[in-house]
Amino acid sequence: MNQQKTHNEQLSLANQSVANLKGELKDASYRLNYHFMAPVGWINDPNGLIQHNGVYHLFYQFNPYSFHWGPMHWGHATSTDLVHWNHEPVALAPSEDYEYDEAKNEMGCFSGSAVMNGDVMTLIYTGHLEGIENKEVQAIATSTDGIHFTKHPANPVISKSPEGLSNEFRDPKVWKHGEFWYMVVGTAVDNDGAIALYKSSNLTEWEYVGIAAKSDGTQGDMWECPDLFPLGDKYVLITSPMNTDNGKSTVMTGSMDYEKGIFTPESQREIDYGIDFYAAQTFEDDKGRRILIAWMDFPFTEFPSKVDKWSGAMTIPRELTLGEDGFVCSHPVQELRALRDIHKHYGKLALSKEDAYDLNSNKTFKHSYELKCKWTLLENEKDGKVGLRLRQSEDGSEQTIVSYDPATNEVMVDTTHAGELSHKAVNKAPLRTDNNEITLHVFVDTCSVEVFVNDGEAALSTRIYPDLASNGIELYTEGMEATVEYIDIWSFKNTGIS
Ligand code: FRU
Repeated sequence: MNQQKTHNEQLSLANQSVANLKGELKDASYRLNYHFMAPVGWINDPNGLIQHNGVYHLFYQFNPYSFHWGPMHWGHATSTDLVHWNHEPVALAPSEDYEYDEAKNEMGCFSGSAVMNGDVMTLIYTGHLEGIENKEVQAIATSTDGIHFTKHPANPVISKSPEGLSNEFRDPKVWKHGEFWYMVVGTAVDNDGAIALYKSSNLTEWEYVGIAAKSDGTQGDMWECPDLFPLGDKYVLITSPMNTDNGKSTVMTGSMDYEKGIFTPESQREIDYGIDFYAAQTFEDDKGRRILIAWMDFPFTEFPSKVDKWSGAMTIPRELTLGEDGFVCSHPVQELRALRDIHKHYGKLALSKEDAYDLNSNKTFKHSYELKCKWTLLENEKDGKVGLRLRQSEDGSEQTIVSYDPATNEVMVDTTHAGELSHKAVNKAPLRTDNNEITLHVFVDTCSVEVFVNDGEAALSTRIYPDLASNGIELYTEGMEATVEYIDIWSFKNTGIS
């Protein structure tokens, strides 16, 4: 019988595959200019986000063997500014009995998180083996250099889900509060999404505290990738609920009772209203900022870059703050400003009822830029729309529309005509403020659009796949006049992530 390969052997095979596939990457046309993306193969969730000694670590779900989802490893990248990333060797490969079954060709190191335990970087992840009763267990791996990780002999540190909870039991997020480590794990109770709370003094022995929060019956039948953290004077719970019409990047603000082990939500919305945003994870950096990165795709949308043998990208990092009304706001991290290159500023512009204004007549801006504009609408004038047409072709047949509808007080990203291969949808974000003013802050990359509204009030992230030559940028009004107070556009430098 063949001896099962060690973790190091599996890592070598994975790294070798990365090197081999690198040579096979084909057409670079879908490669993003400033977003983190799969070096080769497939990526999904961000994992183990952490900063240590000034270095940011981004681990991620990674199939180093193919551009389809498959045997999950943890890929790894580092950065000192959240913008320029370096690829590191694969950090985790499935190799142990609780995550690797050679005979059945079943394996997976699923999503999880990272903490510093003194000088030891510790990854906490889910070992996944489909087809067995306790198919998901929690495991840890440690490192003293932040690059090479050793699986802990005490693994699995949690070997099954608690009595009465689903065996869908994954994506541990660990943090320290007072003397103790706490962990939330995504799961379900009676087909309602839920989070199981655990407590530990040493990261290897975990005591089950209870169900810290669960769906009210409308919030999905399983909660993937939970993240529970303090923000301002509140606690925030982010989940990625499965099988719900009610959103898929839910953020609840509320309070946490550590004595009872219960998180009580006070309000709920989506952290991002775009279709291509999933499995968000946050961490606190050394400036005390709460930073979020999410997978900028969705399992059920298209992945046109598969023809070029890679799939998956991350959103730009965002800083979360607590708004005055108690809702979570998300802002692009200020480090992104370092990418600004050519700048064009426009002052006040008055647009009539059915107007369009070309912002890119000189074709200065290609498909990698930041744009910020502020609109003032007439008071009591609700019947119409204002907005931007982006990635527009010469003949106008291809376009991605970012608009504001004062009648519904929603910002929309309409990808219906965003290119043949784009996922066609109208993504809508309801706003809370309603004062005839709207600020749209947009980040465009080769095949993505991220929109931030007002001061972080709402975000919408979508992948689009227009022709590379479709680079028109237009302001427009429909059915109503409006004033644009200012517009700033900056082309973005390429970060050199390959
Ligand atoms: C979310 C998810 C997680 C799981 C991982 C597997 O996208 O399904 O729940 O750990 O992806 O790749």
